[in-house]
Amino acid sequence: MAVSYSVKILLIEDNLAEARLLQEFLRQADSQEFSLVHVKRLGEALNELSRNSYDVILLDLTLPDSQGLSSLPPLMSHAPSIPIVVLTNTNDEKLAIEAVRQGAQDYLVKRQVNVDVLVRSVCYAIERKQVLETLRTVNQTLQSRVEERTAELVKANELNQFKSEFVSMLSHDIRNPLNTILLAAGLLQNHDDKLTQETKHNHLQMIRSAIKNMAHLLDEVSFIGKADSGKLQCQFISLDLKAFCQQLIDEAQLSTKEKNLTLVFTSVGELGEAVWDESLLRHILGNLLGNAIKYSLPGGKIQFELIAHEHAVTFHIQDWGIGIPQQDLQQLFQPFYRAENVGTIPGTGLGLAIVKKCVEAHGGEIRVNSEVGVGTKFTVTLPLMRR
Ligand SMILES: Nc1ncnc2c1ncn2[C@@H]1O[C@H](COP(=O)(O)OP(=O)(O)OP(=O)(O)O)[C@@H](O)[C@H]1O
Ligand SMILES: [Mg+2]
Repeated sequence: MAVSYSVKILLIEDNLAEARLLQEFLRQADSQEFSLVHVKRLGEALNELSRNSYDVILLDLTLPDSQGLSSLPPLMSHAPSIPIVVLTNTNDEKLAIEAVRQGAQDYLVKRQVNVDVLVRSVCYAIERKQVLETLRTVNQTLQSRVEERTAELVKANELNQFKSEFVSMLSHDIRNPLNTILLAAGLLQNHDDKLTQETKHNHLQMIRSAIKNMAHLLDEVSFIGKADSGKLQCQFISLDLKAFCQQLIDEAQLSTKEKNLTLVFTSVGELGEAVWDESLLRHILGNLLGNAIKYSLPGGKIQFELIAHEHAVTFHIQDWGIGIPQQDLQQLFQPFYRAENVGTIPGTGLGLAIVKKCVEAHGGEIRVNSEVGVGTKFTVTLPLMRR
């Protein structure tokens, strides 16, 4: 027998004579030392189990406060790793077998117990439970490894899908300007003698602007690539944030004129000393202002607010334009994602993806509130960084 220490047994038995008999058998055992605690009710046993640890439980199946198999579940949930040997009368062996099926390690028929049978059964129960416990842990480890691996595969799959979507969107957006270039260049080549100087000039102009669009698109894609691989290089410098915002507003005013928009800039609170990455700020605010202008209706209003807090600044960029449908809000910051209501308004869907990367690089956060037909408000909060 492998067990060499004193085996601690909890005996749950309401019949005193039976309990004494078992105790006597254990005393006679010379191959192993046993220490036995005897309780008469299930309730007492549960109390005892929460106070002390045991190697094995001997359980009578007819107790004053619990009958038959109903004693098993509370014991097994209270002490899941302690083996249970049930004690039955001669006439309910069937019940004993059912108890083993439900999680007991072994059973003893009271009248047939002697020293050897009792010791063998107790030791067997302990060993069997240990094997089961080891199997259970191995099983659990295996299961959690399978789960981890599955999660990794799902993630890799998603990434693969995202990559191929990204590539197909990119090729789609490059094909448009490329077609323009091909068409215009073809016309210039084949009909050179029939074209007026002005038409030639227009075609060349179209080619130039298509090339500019492509270069811009590639710049944006490579920006996102850099941000994703952590290669964005930030340069934090002292900056008069209010003056910087005013300058962005002045630049934006040029495009508001075409749509007859009113762009209002307000600044609240005193800004403390802080450092900023000018290029990140330009990407964030330029894109948000650009969107507000692009998605506004002619004659509309845009409000740009800068609020200084003690440890952060908040920018609100609000318009009363076409708005964004609720179902599109969640995916808005994904590259190439455009809401369903953009109609023929041009765009690639990369602006907000870039804004998000820049906000994150600046340690801040961005939120959006919007309602179709009412308008949109983007809120960016950036922490103040001091030198
Ligand atoms: N102020 C706004 N009002 C309404 N819809 C907006 C606004 N800003 C963004 N959106 C929606 O979010 C989408 C994603 O914006 P994002 O700036 O990323 O792309 P875009 O403006 O379509 O193209 P670009 O890459 O040229 O900026 C837009 O296509 C539009 O559906
Ligand atoms: Mg945009």
